[in-house]
This record gives sequence, C-alpha cells and structure tokens, in this order.
Amino acid sequence: MPLMNIHSLLRDYAVEWSDAPDFVSRLEASPHRLVVVDENVWKCHAEGCLAGMDRNFVEVFAVSEERKNLAGVEALYDLLIGRSAKRNLALVSIGGGILQDLTGFVASTLYRGIPWVFVPTTLLAQADSCIGSKTSLNYKGFKNLLGTFYPPKAVYLYPAFVLTQKETDYASGLGEVIKLHMMGGPEKTRELARLLPLLKARDLPALGTAIRNSLEIKYAYFAADEFDTGRRNLLNFGHCFGHALEATSAFRIPHGQAVVLGMLLANEVACRRGLLSAAVKERLSRELLRPSLCVRPRHEEWDSQALVEALGKDKKRTGSGLALVMMKDDFDLIKVDDLTPDEVRSALRSLEGDLVERP
Ligand SMILES: NC(=O)c1ccc[n+]([C@@H]2O[C@H](COP(=O)([O-])OP(=O)(O)OC[C@H]3O[C@@H](n4cnc5c(N)ncnc54)[C@H](O)[C@@H]3O)[C@@H](O)[C@H]2O)c1
Ligand SMILES: [Zn+2]
Repeated sequence: MPLMNIHSLLRDYAVEWSDAPDFVSRLEASPHRLVVVDENVWKCHAEGCLAGMDRNFVEVFAVSEERKNLAGVEALYDLLIGRSAKRNLALVSIGGGILQDLTGFVASTLYRGIPWVFVPTTLLAQADSCIGSKTSLNYKGFKNLLGTFYPPKAVYLYPAFVLTQKETDYASGLGEVIKLHMMGGPEKTRELARLLPLLKARDLPALGTAIRNSLEIKYAYFAADEFDTGRRNLLNFGHCFGHALEATSAFRIPHGQAVVLGMLLANEVACRRGLLSAAVKERLSRELLRPSLCVRPRHEEWDSQALVEALGKDKKRTGSGLALVMMKDDFDLIKVDDLTPDEVRSALRSLEGDLVERP
C-alpha cells in the first residue's frame, strides 16, 4: 500500500507500507537483483519474515560505523562486480541507517547509478532516514563527510522489524521521532507525549502512527529544499550539540540519544535568550525529552571545552561563530550563527546536576 509519494528532483519514489511481510514477493519478482542484508537482521529474520528469499541472490553484510567508509564501499563494489553487475542490476538493501548510507552511496556511484530499493529495519531508518535522498560515509574520523544525493526507486516499510532491535538502538530512533514531532508543532508534540509509554513498549499500532507522522513532518521540511540550502537545515535541531556529544563520547552515546540531549541543551540556550519560556521548556523536558533518555552522559563527555571544540567542527557551520538551531515558544525554529562558549557553559551547568553520571 503506498503510504507516501515522494517528489525528488532526481526521481520520484513511493514509500510502500506493509503490515505483513508481503514485500518479499515483490523483491523476488526482480530477475537481476542482489539483496544485501545487514548481518544482524539476517540472524533475527532469516527464518522469519525473510524466509521466502532465494538465498542465491542474498549477500549478508556486517555493518558498523567503522565500516561506513570507502573500504566498506569497495567491499560492496566487489560483491556487485563479482556478480557481473550490469546497469540493469537492481540493488536491494535490508538494514538500518548504516547499510542505507553504504548501499545508497554504492548505488549512486556504480556505473553512475543503478536501481536501488531500500527496506529499512530500524526505527531511525523507518521514521527518518529512509526519505530525504542522502547517502553519507565517514572519512578519516569525520562523520558523514562524504556523500551523495540519491533517492531509492522504492522504500518498503515493514514496522515489525524494529521488534528485534537492541534497546539502545531503538531508543536512538525514538530520539529522532521526538525531534520530528516537536518540529511538527504543539499538537503533534502532545500526541507523541500521549503515545510515549506505548512506543517505549514497542506497541505496533502506536509505532505505525509515530512513523507516519515523522515521515510526513520530515517531508514537509525538505520537499521544497531537497539539497539542504535553507529550511532543510532546521532538521538539524538537536544535532548541533548532538553531533558534538557523539564526538566527545567517541560514539558511546548513540546518535538519536545525543539528539535528545542536544534538544535539552538547545532549549536551555533558547530560554536564556528569551525565545522559549521556562514553562514550555520544563513541560517538553518532563513529558518527552527526559523520559526518552536511556543513556546518561559521563562527566568527561559533558566537558565544555571539548564540546565547544566539537561544535566548531560542525560541517553545517557557515559563519565564524558557533551554529545552533533553537525552538521558540510557538514551536517555530530559528538557526543562529552566534552561539558563544559562555552560553554553552551555562547550558551545560544547568543540566549537569540531573543528567550527568557522577565520576
Ligand atoms: N542517510 C540519512 O539520511 C541518515 C539520516 C540519519 C542517520 N543516518 C545514519 O544512520 C546510521 C544509524 O542508523 P540506525 O540507527 O538505523 O542503525 P544502524 O544501521 O547503525 O544499526 C544499529 C545496529 O542494529 C542492527 N540492526 C539493524 N536492524 C536490526 C533489526 N531489525 N534487528 C536487530 N538488529 C538490527 C545493526 O546490525 C547494527 O548493529 C548512522 O550512521 C547515521 O549517520 C543516515
Ligand atoms: Zn539525526
């Protein structure tokens, strides 16, 4: 069932929704396919929803952030070329954001582009990254420094995959779901606060609602700005401090959890600048942000000097100051380029007592 049709300047595509694993028979219909499956997904689902896949067309691939680089891409080129890949070869990938980034990059560059279908298996990939056309690779310690814009031909979304995710990986996806609902305005935020206990218990109907809302909200932000020049930048809410915390924790804090911490910090700064009232800030913290945290930052990861340094390396930064996306009382977002180290220190201090693990 088509859930959404996404318009892209490169190619329009549909997100197809399945409550049963009927996407498998559709994938099997393609005669020139190579299906690359995340190793952990294969372990959990080879005898379950993926049992109908012809093993002759399946390659199981182990992913990690360390492998989301040019070496990982080469390994995939070799797999494809080993199967005498031709331009009509269709690449299918079944996995989370890492496999999406790797295979999307491969599909966009091999023979200057081969058809690609993506089946997202994590909450983050289903609710967020599967639309938007971005592929990213890490390069020499810099996260997501290389990349292309390349939409898949289709996305098949089967929410039940997330039932086998590890708790911290699932919580990471939940962080992005919360961010998108906050960006969707007060009503969507209230709806999500009501759903939160069900989402934490991975209730499938609640997940269905949250995923659909998230994709609609994200689409509204990039529809008119596919190539990331203006409004799409606001999707970086929570990510300025979030990326910095990923760096200071050497990726111990998973991406979406770092984004939740990043939103808490951005709200502190917004409150001090008079953009966000203390009442709204407290309500967002109490009802959504704190209850979704399952990782506590350590003392050394909360260090202001290290964080200011990491904020300075933000690749979205254009001015000479530090960049930050903040939320205002009416839930509108604003991007500034003049965040000061003093503001960073004050925001860190005000949350430290409650959030940070004692040394
Ligand atoms: N391209 C984009 O637009 C975009 C957007 C956001 C994030 N990302 C990238 O996505 C990555 C994070 O992706 P993610 O959170 O989806 O997770 P992931 O791909 O990092 O997977 C996390 C772990 O879960 C395992 N896994 C995946 N699906 C599973 C399942 N259904 N059951 C059991 N285990 C499963 C994986 O093997 C891995 O060990 C980051 O590298 C980030 O930079 C890309
Ligand atoms: Zn993110």
